[in-house]
Amino acid sequence: MVTTYTHEPFTDFSDAKNQEEFEAALQYVKSELGKDYPLIIGGEKVDTDEKTTSVNPANPEQVIGRIAKARQKHADQAMTSALEAFQTWKKWDPEARANVLYRAAHLVKRRKHEFSAWMVYEIGKTRKEADADTAEAIDFLEYYARQMVELKPGIPINSRSFEHNQFFYIPLGPGLTVSPWNLPFAIMAGTTVGPMVAGNTVMLKPATNTPVIAYKFMEVLIEAGMPDGVVNYIPGSGSEIGDYLVDHPETHWINFTGSKEIGTRIYERSAKVQPGQTHLKRAIIEMGGKDGIVVDSEADLDLAAESILYSAYGFAGQKCSACSRAIVHQDVYETVLEKVKALAENAVVGNPEHAETYMGPVKDEEAFNSILEYIEIGKGEAELVTGGTGDKTNGYFIQPTIFKDADPESRIMQEEIFGPVVAFTKAEDFTHAIEIANNTIYGLTGAVISNNRAHLEQAREDFHVGNLYFNRGCTAAIVGYQPFGGFNMSGTDAKAGGPDYLLHFMQPKTVSDHF
Ligand code: NAD
Ligand code: ALA
Repeated sequence: MVTTYTHEPFTDFSDAKNQEEFEAALQYVKSELGKDYPLIIGGEKVDTDEKTTSVNPANPEQVIGRIAKARQKHADQAMTSALEAFQTWKKWDPEARANVLYRAAHLVKRRKHEFSAWMVYEIGKTRKEADADTAEAIDFLEYYARQMVELKPGIPINSRSFEHNQFFYIPLGPGLTVSPWNLPFAIMAGTTVGPMVAGNTVMLKPATNTPVIAYKFMEVLIEAGMPDGVVNYIPGSGSEIGDYLVDHPETHWINFTGSKEIGTRIYERSAKVQPGQTHLKRAIIEMGGKDGIVVDSEADLDLAAESILYSAYGFAGQKCSACSRAIVHQDVYETVLEKVKALAENAVVGNPEHAETYMGPVKDEEAFNSILEYIEIGKGEAELVTGGTGDKTNGYFIQPTIFKDADPESRIMQEEIFGPVVAFTKAEDFTHAIEIANNTIYGLTGAVISNNRAHLEQAREDFHVGNLYFNRGCTAAIVGYQPFGGFNMSGTDAKAGGPDYLLHFMQPKTVSDHF
């Protein structure tokens, strides 16, 4: 029997037994590192001469796996297989499709720490961050399965005495899921199984840095009874197969999560009707953020500091939801700054394999260099309070960094840095703080720390972000509890993990039977 949805609980790592079990999972995954992984197209494993090597950002000598690289011909094969599988998958009873997701959720739950351990090695997540990522992947499976079952009958509409009218949803067709590396399990899985359970077939292009965790998920879907060709695993170059499949006339939808640069490119390309195309493509584009936490003069300042710390440095600030701007009322500015500085200087930076690590590496050398460049820019725009250094002798580590007195118009206050860097700016009053918070092209997440109910109500109206949080940090949305997606240049606001999500991959049909 299907129970009411509740989110997957997070592992309590203060319990020694859980730590022991996690250590065992790390040891197991370590023994599995360095293998070769093929593409999976139409249920067939396809090897290629050219490979991509996935390495541990905390120890780049350590190979996580070598992954076959899809080229254009594989993208074509994937499309053929997705088109063929669509003919039968679309007719599966939605409950049977949902059952594949329920089984997959249970298969992941049984091996939960193992999946998290893969992310510790493949992308440098601490065990807390990896555990949250796995929990979110489970939640997407459980939540979207239930959503599909709810949508199955359609929505009641009016009929007159001589007719029977129906309104129900049907899938769109084959489409492309393109996922980022920063939630390499949760977003990859959610953006695949949402369209899939809605009856579409999927070509999955995971991020180049995290193909192995995506392969592990493909194994789960296959074990859960997914028919051949329903999801096709085609890791490869975004610019080569990404562009090719975005342009393909048979692509019906693109489900993209990633940077503004690539997202806007896909949005534009997908709008162009190609020769032979018989439909308009849907582009679901979820992009970056420049998220802020506003601290009011009447506020719990310890809560404010803890919220800024975790939102800025959880997974080394590599979340679209990360706090990169702290907008603090002038009366409490110095106090909050001092508190965050003390916490940041105490945070243990190191290899995420170790239980005590608070913050691991950034994803690779490219990110390391880009973040340090932003830190140099920051030094010219504001005052460095702490951090500001990096070390890549073994792994790509950057110290938690704080700037103060940043001009709201400065680059470090306007551009997504995607690293452990937060800029503080002083607000004259609460209204000024909200003005600064809204002064960005993005609109993804934001938080307000305040004990003043009138100010919280003002923020509810005026703080223009897709996910607004009061008296907590601005990261860590939970599927089914805080549907996630942003305004403005943060994307199309599809609200992953929300009640409307599956509708983006379906079209409503009206049937009127006159008798
Ligand atoms: P990215 O845009 O560099 O890459 C995302 C994906 O797009 C990757 O799989 C990449 O290979 C692929 N890609 C690259 N070129 C492509 C092309 N021409 N056509 C199709 N696909 C192509 O982003 P990233 O570095 O993987 O992820 C970080 C970014 O993602 C940040 O900006 C972050 O804010 C954003 N993000 C947003 C959300 C959200 O829900 N809004 C969630 C997570 C991450
Ligand atoms: N959904 C993720 C969060 O809320 C990105 O942090």
